[in-house]
Amino acid sequence: MHPGNQSGTSSGSSSRNSSRNSSGNRELFVSPFPHQGPLSADQVRGREALIADLVERATMRRVTALLGPRRFGKTSVLRKVESILAEAGTSVIWIDLYETRSTADLVVRLDDALNNTRGSIREKATAIASSMSVNLGMFKLEFARPASKRPNAEAALHLMLDLLVKAATSHPTVIIIDEFTGINGVNGAAALLRTKIQHHVQEVGLLFAGSEPTAMAAMFTDVSQPFYAQADIVEIEGFSPADLNEIVAEGFANTDRDPGELASLVHQFTEGHPYRAMQLADATWRLTEPGEAATAATWAAALAQVRQSTGPGLETLFSSFSSNTQAVLRAIAGGRNLFGASLELFGTSSGGISAARDRLIDAGTISKELTVTDPLLGDWIKQRFAL
Ligand SMILES: Nc1ncnc2c1ncn2[C@@H]1O[C@H](COP(=O)(O)OP(=O)(O)OP(=O)(O)O)[C@@H](O)[C@H]1O
Ligand SMILES: [Mg+2]
Repeated sequence: MHPGNQSGTSSGSSSRNSSRNSSGNRELFVSPFPHQGPLSADQVRGREALIADLVERATMRRVTALLGPRRFGKTSVLRKVESILAEAGTSVIWIDLYETRSTADLVVRLDDALNNTRGSIREKATAIASSMSVNLGMFKLEFARPASKRPNAEAALHLMLDLLVKAATSHPTVIIIDEFTGINGVNGAAALLRTKIQHHVQEVGLLFAGSEPTAMAAMFTDVSQPFYAQADIVEIEGFSPADLNEIVAEGFANTDRDPGELASLVHQFTEGHPYRAMQLADATWRLTEPGEAATAATWAAALAQVRQSTGPGLETLFSSFSSNTQAVLRAIAGGRNLFGASLELFGTSSGGISAARDRLIDAGTISKELTVTDPLLGDWIKQRFAL
């Protein structure tokens, strides 16, 4: 997808920009800060060391799990890794397990993954599939048939995992499994995947990624889990001030604008949260004319716009939390101690607060150091509540 399509709806000035696209130099008017959904490989900025490390790990067949909170750029980084590997002649099978619900659902994800491969791996997978009486891409329809005509999902899962392993070992291949914790939605599937793949980890590169930090880490560090001690864990961090400075400076310079102090303002506000940093850089960029510089006033106007456009969604999110969870978030966003006087203020008990805190850490909504991961959520809470 073109970056202009991704970010064009995020501000009121998009029509102004797109109307100029037809007449002026297009590059000047397409936002250099796309921020909706994962980026395509060519849109990924910075992260050079992490990308090089992941490429090397995949190439050296060191099984690796990439961990990080939501919207930190895991999928984007892996897309770049995928494109570098593909350029070097390695095939990539990309499996997305987001919210996998059942064995049949998992079979369809595997089928989709193989069906979406390109080049020689696709030819090999098709040939292996037909030797197993499978047509790639058929399971979505097969599982929609009346119950008496539907395939047995367990048998189909064994078949698809065998097919995956055969295809991947037929050619230099890296398997990327995004949203790996989704496999926990299907009883016994992680153990089965491990059984099928464990004798091939020297032949096939394996990269896992996931967004629920605690659940994802537990999959590789908890003795009772099938993938215990099966992967090195690599954590994706937020953008450092230097990374962000480079990204903002390049985006503005390439579109004939001057970022002024924007990078440090964005970093101060977001602490390097990649998605929020791009969203705020984009909003400020849209308010900066070609040939001009972003000023403190431009930043203030952009922040006000973003606060306004994200407020309703953040309010809905906040209202969906239990009262203990809301109390933890209010205390943390307000820089208060979680216990002591806060308990009386929020009318809660220490047991309830501890449990809510732990759940928020598990979900990645707050960090272990007790900061709100999404700076705009923290900001919304601070703006909304006096205490
Ligand atoms: N390397 C990068 N360069 C520029 N922007 C980035 C980069 N990484 C992340 N972003 C910003 O963060 C957004 C989210 O990225 P992405 O979807 O890859 O994150 P994720 O960690 O996979 O998220 P999720 O947890 O929702 O799956 C992107 O749309 C982009 O705005
Ligand atoms: Mg992702």
